[in-house]
Amino acid sequence: MYQVSNLYKSLAFLTASLSVLLLTVNSAFAEQRSEEQAPLSRPEISAPTPDPEVIGFIDSRNTLSLNGTWNLLIDPMGVGDPGGAFGGWASARQQKNAWQLIEYNYSSARKISVPGDFNTQIDGLLFYRDSVWYQRFFEASPVDNNRYHLWFGGINYTSIIFLNGKPIAKQVGGYVPFSVDITEHLKAGRNDLVVKVNNRLDANSVPTARTDWWPYGGLTRDVMLVETPDKFIVNAKVQLGDNASIQGEIHTRGFKKGTKVSIKVPELGLATTAKVDQTGLAKWQTKAKPVLWEPDNPKLYKVEISAGRDNISDRIGFRTIEARGETILLNGKPIRFKGISTHEEPIGRDGTAFSRSDMVKLFSEAKALGANFVRAAHYPYSRYAAQVADEMGLLLWKEVPIYWNIAWENPETLSIARDQVSRLIKRDWNRASIVIWSVANETPYSEPRMKFLEHLINDVRTLDHSRLVSAALLGDMRSKLRQIVLHLAAYGIDAEDIDPKDRAMFSEILKKAGDSAPKKGDNYQLIIDDPLGELADIVSYNEYFGWYYSIAIAATTGISEKTLRELMLDFIPNINIGNAFGKPMHISEFGAGAKFGNRGEGVWTEDYQAEVYRVQTQMISNSPQVQGMTPWVLKDFRAMLRALPNIQDYRNRKGLIDENGQRKQAFYVLRDFYQGPWGTAFAMESSH
Ligand code: GCU
Repeated sequence: MYQVSNLYKSLAFLTASLSVLLLTVNSAFAEQRSEEQAPLSRPEISAPTPDPEVIGFIDSRNTLSLNGTWNLLIDPMGVGDPGGAFGGWASARQQKNAWQLIEYNYSSARKISVPGDFNTQIDGLLFYRDSVWYQRFFEASPVDNNRYHLWFGGINYTSIIFLNGKPIAKQVGGYVPFSVDITEHLKAGRNDLVVKVNNRLDANSVPTARTDWWPYGGLTRDVMLVETPDKFIVNAKVQLGDNASIQGEIHTRGFKKGTKVSIKVPELGLATTAKVDQTGLAKWQTKAKPVLWEPDNPKLYKVEISAGRDNISDRIGFRTIEARGETILLNGKPIRFKGISTHEEPIGRDGTAFSRSDMVKLFSEAKALGANFVRAAHYPYSRYAAQVADEMGLLLWKEVPIYWNIAWENPETLSIARDQVSRLIKRDWNRASIVIWSVANETPYSEPRMKFLEHLINDVRTLDHSRLVSAALLGDMRSKLRQIVLHLAAYGIDAEDIDPKDRAMFSEILKKAGDSAPKKGDNYQLIIDDPLGELADIVSYNEYFGWYYSIAIAATTGISEKTLRELMLDFIPNINIGNAFGKPMHISEFGAGAKFGNRGEGVWTEDYQAEVYRVQTQMISNSPQVQGMTPWVLKDFRAMLRALPNIQDYRNRKGLIDENGQRKQAFYVLRDFYQGPWGTAFAMESSH
């Protein structure tokens, strides 16, 4: 018995050890196989997050511009990641000897201009959504007891910064500025700067991969080396206070508690001081009666702030903005937002707008419309946008790219979104032109969406309680479309030359509705009641009467789209848009597509687009709660969703001007409307 059981035991041991052996061999092969499957796949590059603070007043700092010509390598397979089979591309390592297998070289690589996107600068990259590597050298002569920061105005979308071969920061999220203190890594003399950029978006990014604008990738904004004293002022907020005062808070780093900070506004003969607390924060308030900033008189004052060896300054305007009942008040006087929506693309040049002159040209066209307001959709623009709007007297709606369907329940997605809000506000909170922070665009209602957006709205109000909060809402289209069909049936039932099939369907629809059926010419009261309206100061709504809805109704009813489209133009002036919250109503989008030069009947003609603007502006005049509008959109813009050959060719054609700045008929319809009764309703009051 004993031998047998021993035998069993040794057999059992043998099989067990064999299976362990098999397992390890197997896993080694598996690893090998996975290596073979992706011989170039690399571990995720880890790097610290950038400085959570935004260095404010950047244009008054001691900086070395790193704009200009950089080297560029394209890397769709992630070959460049350090640790790769060929060593990775994190530095412009020179070839040590002829035998060393090095399969990349920056000095003989393509050249690219910074700032600017790579999609429109490099042939073949227009539709590219993956990694590229930027490299340049720069000379530095760092001195003791100063700090050195690499500052990026915005990189789309994920970026990893390498200095002299070391990963020093990783930023996820485009459009917003970030910096990293590189004092420890900076060499005297020549430094090797490499930036890996990936413009790929996915279900968890902000925005997701589905956007109706181009995912311009790369170093799309200015790049600088910033020198500050070792004890310095990081940022400051300066605003109008109560009872004829101005006030602010100054965020410093490295100073002892009690250090004095001075604030001067020479033109107001104002000089005051404040003391830094143990967290580096100094708050101040002082009597002052500045001339208030407004579109017709965009008055800016030079504000100088100093602490220790640090001196910063900026040109700042002072004003108030308020939503009271259903009215918007600028400096206590009612105002209407005569606006237009934009994307951050220049007029007359391909790619993304990145320069001050780009913004001057774009906003000058808005001024030519008679606009006093611009909705800078759908993401943070360069810092020049609000600087130029401050100078030109344009009110601004600024927005973070919480667009359509976001991964509402993903914590990483939320932290990227919060980072967008925080960096945008800390960069622009001194810009008088900005009156609205918007946290979302066309996000379908759900509980997770409400929780996510409540977070963002709380962040906005914590960072800056002086501006209004909004979001461009979708409304509950299904129930609205049912109502619209009824009204169109009332128009169609006795209209001339209607297809008899359509007429029969109209009478069927009206019979079913019985007494609740509307009559032709009855007003249709459209009430926006998205719960987000409860949290917003202004309720904003995107609607496309005259463009999209006929398609949706035709698809669900079988009535011909042509009939619906014609009836819709008759019906639109009888729509009254309002909201269920007793707050000011803003139409954040309406529009229609047209190709410049395409004239005559039907969609895609300038004449049809102009007709939509005519009936839409009548509707707005008939909607007393509407106090602002930003039709979609100033300029035709690149969009991968818009593929119609010979008309769109991957551009959204709802612009009032085309990509070369040629004005369509609708431009003049809107300009006339802004000069008419609705647009000038309060003008007289504001001049009193
Ligand atoms: C949506 C969206 C825009 C889009 C526009 C359109 O409302 O907010 O980003 O470009 O409609 O359909 O053209």
